Amino acid sequence: MRRPIVIANWKMNGDMRFTRRLLQDICKSWNGVHEAEVAVCPPFPYLAATQMLLEQTNIYWGAQNMSDRDNGAFTGEISAEMLNELGCKYVLVGHSERREFQRESSELVAKKFKKAVESQLVPVLCVGESLEQRENEQTYDVIARQLLKVVDHCGLDMVAKGIVAYEPIWAIGTGKSATPQMAQDVHSYIREILGPEGDQIRILYGGSVKPDNAEALFSQKDIDGALVGGASLKAEDFVEICRAAE
Ligand code: PGA
Repeated sequence: MRRPIVIANWKMNGDMRFTRRLLQDICKSWNGVHEAEVAVCPPFPYLAATQMLLEQTNIYWGAQNMSDRDNGAFTGEISAEMLNELGCKYVLVGHSERREFQRESSELVAKKFKKAVESQLVPVLCVGESLEQRENEQTYDVIARQLLKVVDHCGLDMVAKGIVAYEPIWAIGTGKSATPQMAQDVHSYIREILGPEGDQIRILYGGSVKPDNAEALFSQKDIDGALVGGASLKAEDFVEICRAAE
């Protein structure tokens, strides 16, 4: 059985005040025992405060990125060990915004994935096609290429220790989510690529997930939860999405 999970990706938003408030509001509404797992990924500077506020709760936290290196002269980078010290459980790797704006290659993403698992973090590998690629019917090729880079570098056993997030780029922050069927088709394809390990691994959908479309998405058999951007900045909306995952 795959436990459903909803992960918040706050991206580069908020300040300390906003972050504390948001965390407190989420905690208040997510008290108690739940079938679904919930995690938040705040910006780096707020991870320590997040750790303090969430330590005694049933909510996990993670980072939005990390370096593939252990330590050394890599100005501006943050290592897996540093994230461990901050109590992170999860780390996003290969988010499309990093692939695009920071020019992260699939090779680098694969190295980060490996480093995360070796450091006892759970990497959330983001894959997804652009609008142009979808329109040219390249979706499945793109997903396979992004995924297989990691499989080749890490092996299926290691990939099974992470989470995959299917995030079509055209759906991110646009208000235009993939239909449940579209998402389901890609999720089942991802499972197929992962072979025997495919059944255990959790695959999340991301891209304009909102309270009003979450339930339909989660009702698909291969969708195990969501990676939520915009809607995760409002406690009420985020918690509603978490509830829909149960
Ligand atoms: P969105 O972002 O929910 O705002 O579309 C999702 C993501 O980028 O992870």
